[in-house]
Amino acid sequence: MKIPPVKGTRDFYPPQMAIRNFIVDGWKKASMRNGFEEYDGPIFEYLKMFQIKSGDEIVEQLFSLQDRGGRDLAIRPEITPTLARMVNQQINALPRPIKWFSLPRLCRAERPQKGRLREFFQWNLDIIGIDRPEADAEVIFATLDYLRSVGLTAADVQAKISSRRLLSAVLRGIGLPEEKLDALYALLDKKAKLPADTFEALLAEQVPDPQQAGKIADFMALQAVERVGDVVDNDEVQDAVADLKAVLAALSLMGVEEYCVFDPGIVRGLAYYTGVVFEVHDAGAELRAICGGGRYDNLLRDFGGPAIPATGMGMGDCVLEILLQEKGLLESQVPPRRLEYFVACADHAFTGEMYRITAALRSKGHAANFSYKLGGLSKQLKEAAGQNAARCIIIGQEYRDNRQLVVKDMAAGEQELVDADAFLAGLDVS
Ligand code: HAM
Repeated sequence: MKIPPVKGTRDFYPPQMAIRNFIVDGWKKASMRNGFEEYDGPIFEYLKMFQIKSGDEIVEQLFSLQDRGGRDLAIRPEITPTLARMVNQQINALPRPIKWFSLPRLCRAERPQKGRLREFFQWNLDIIGIDRPEADAEVIFATLDYLRSVGLTAADVQAKISSRRLLSAVLRGIGLPEEKLDALYALLDKKAKLPADTFEALLAEQVPDPQQAGKIADFMALQAVERVGDVVDNDEVQDAVADLKAVLAALSLMGVEEYCVFDPGIVRGLAYYTGVVFEVHDAGAELRAICGGGRYDNLLRDFGGPAIPATGMGMGDCVLEILLQEKGLLESQVPPRRLEYFVACADHAFTGEMYRITAALRSKGHAANFSYKLGGLSKQLKEAAGQNAARCIIIGQEYRDNRQLVVKDMAAGEQELVDADAFLAGLDVS
């Protein structure tokens, strides 16, 4: 019996691995050009790390285990708690601002569906130590900078931006008590995923006063941040509006305005967000979120450190890959397998030379292969083409006579004779 991969996991055969590398390399490049440094942590942590502040949904989806010492552990479903732990551990030694990125493999025991798996890769960008709107804008900009670099336009994706701080000010302004807010965030976060009447029924359970529920609905339907005052107006609301406007203004100065919209329906599922929050969605809103993030000013304190402001985002590889595939952006950009040289011999007497030349090419940094089969020359050339070799080096009669090699350009079909020693000596890695 053949054994399939575990439900919700993927096998990465070379073609899938090429796509994964294309995505991860792009994330890495975008992080570096936006001034972030890479970090990583362990793949499992103490279970309680994820119970502190991530929220019920993540806790329900944990892959947990016990080690032989009886410690309760969990495979990381996100890296933000690890980041908070790591920063707290060296809080006085780390130069600020901390602008870090990471590319962790994560596991969540979700019900597998389009764009959601049980094991995935997630690009994380975080800025710690800055409480200014520019930091939120920078995280959003870097996210869009990546999406733009892989060919996604403002007609393909949109960054939907709102603010937890604004939402809580609005809810408090409507007269809702503090202790109700967390449960309300969880419900409002699900609004787009629920049928309208189900959402209204659930909202009525939590907010029985129809006037209050109506105001929440009015806020959630707003399309311009300037109109928030029409629903509730007080200093707290105005401060939160000003903060959000500053983020939007910075994004506009950074030239990504056309990608950005205010959307009060963005609440975010995780419990630790405190300020500006955002998600990027495909323009048709047919897929789940491509990424999500926001400001979380209390998380480091909740992890036993000082109160240090932070903002960041996470982007999974699954929805992104589906979207890139749908838009035809993978085929044109994922580099095919490429070999610089294939070394063939026209006569089996040259097998030893074939090994020697291949090894010399490799030691100079060139990707090179030879055939194990030792068939005729045409079979070897076929193998070279199958491996997408740019050039084929043929060791044959000319080598025996004059120590010359045939270098065949596989695409052009042209070939030239070169002196073997001069050729090998001239192969310095550029
Ligand atoms: P999150 O919303 O839980 O946030 O996940 C962010 C992104 O990770 C999602 O938008 C999606 O692209 C991807 N993702 C999440 N779950 C899955 C899954 N089961 N399968 C495939 N992709 C998935 C966080 O994780 C926050 N820690 C992000 C953050 C960093 N906030 C601040 N800093």
